[in-house]
Amino acid sequence: MRLSRRVTAIEESATLAVSEKARVLRARGIDVAALVAGEPDFDTPENIKAAAVEAIRAGFTKYTPTSGIPELRAAIAEKLQRDNGLQVSPEAVLVSCGAKHSIYNFFHATCEEGDEVLIPAPYWVSYPEQVKSCGAVPVVLPTREEEDWKVRPEALARALTPRTRAFVLNSPSNPTGTVYSADELRALGAVLAGHGTLVLSDEIYEKLVYDGARHHSLAALVPELAARTVTVNGFSKAYAMTGWRLGYAAGPRPILDAMAKLQSQATSNATSVAQRAALAALTQDGPDLARMCAEFDRRRRFMVERLRQIPGLTFAVPQGAFYVFPRVSAFLGRTPAGGARPLASGTDFATALLEIGHVAGVPGEPFGAPDHIRLSYATAYETIARALDRLAAFVAGLR
Ligand SMILES: Cc1ncc(COP(=O)(O)O)c(C=O)c1O
Repeated sequence: MRLSRRVTAIEESATLAVSEKARVLRARGIDVAALVAGEPDFDTPENIKAAAVEAIRAGFTKYTPTSGIPELRAAIAEKLQRDNGLQVSPEAVLVSCGAKHSIYNFFHATCEEGDEVLIPAPYWVSYPEQVKSCGAVPVVLPTREEEDWKVRPEALARALTPRTRAFVLNSPSNPTGTVYSADELRALGAVLAGHGTLVLSDEIYEKLVYDGARHHSLAALVPELAARTVTVNGFSKAYAMTGWRLGYAAGPRPILDAMAKLQSQATSNATSVAQRAALAALTQDGPDLARMCAEFDRRRRFMVERLRQIPGLTFAVPQGAFYVFPRVSAFLGRTPAGGARPLASGTDFATALLEIGHVAGVPGEPFGAPDHIRLSYATAYETIARALDRLAAFVAGLR
């Protein structure tokens, strides 16, 4: 079967592949402790669910305007002003089927064949694949664990070229949990302001920050960039609404209008009742968010503490999102107890950890950091405890 070059060029989601392997082991009766999830394990707050039920009962089940219902766009514009200091009109907000869809719309609306998109590594797995899906070229900008995985302004200045169409910023970051301070963002903004590149600021983990870290929006800190920056956010992580598929983008009208045009021919609007639910999420701030964040923080501190006790493992302490991203290169060349051959790569480590240690984590390779493994703490405390006991035993058993 002849399939399009663009689809053939992209990879399937690595996270889903690990989940599938874990499922197969479980089907064989093996207890797998999974630290894979990219979603909160909490339920969507009751008031949000109630708003959706009410919308269904009221027959709010038809198409909506492509860009989203006016009340929601207005509430998002107000939120961006209140929480982020961004001045956007409701007309410059596009509601889509998840932040992933917003990002897809952005790349497809702005990138030509051969355009380069600068992506700091480690990165969320979908950026390079989405860039490839529109015929553009992902260019990876490496960062260092010793520098908390942060892009240095000098490195950014060196990496920007006339072919750079867009720069991707993701703070707090998946997979590293890195959160940029206001000063660090201003320094990057000063470099970006001197170049014509567009900026995609993916702020989906905005609400999940710890240790006193604060989230800042680049376009608010560096007003010169506002006309070239599209800010993306969504409801999945902050409100435990992954399955509702609701995200949004805001920024300069010409780009947002182009994204809306593309969406009008692809998916039309995001689900009507999910939009009503999202409106409740934004306008009826409940206690759930703070409770969820406090629980993530408790798990994060526990995971960090336990990982610190494993000799050879290094990592930058995450200040946001819900992942730790340790380096496993100290263990390469060694053979797991019961294993047939030495571990040759980080992916080998993750595979053996799953098959022999019965702990599922996501190998770092698809995040652009092959010597690492992503461990999620968006799962029950007891699962984390069990997984870390097993990880410690697995590492201690390496010969
Ligand atoms: C960095 C990042 N951006 C965007 C998304 C997409 O979120 P959603 O499409 O559920 O809104 C995710 C989901 O894992 C993510 O980790």
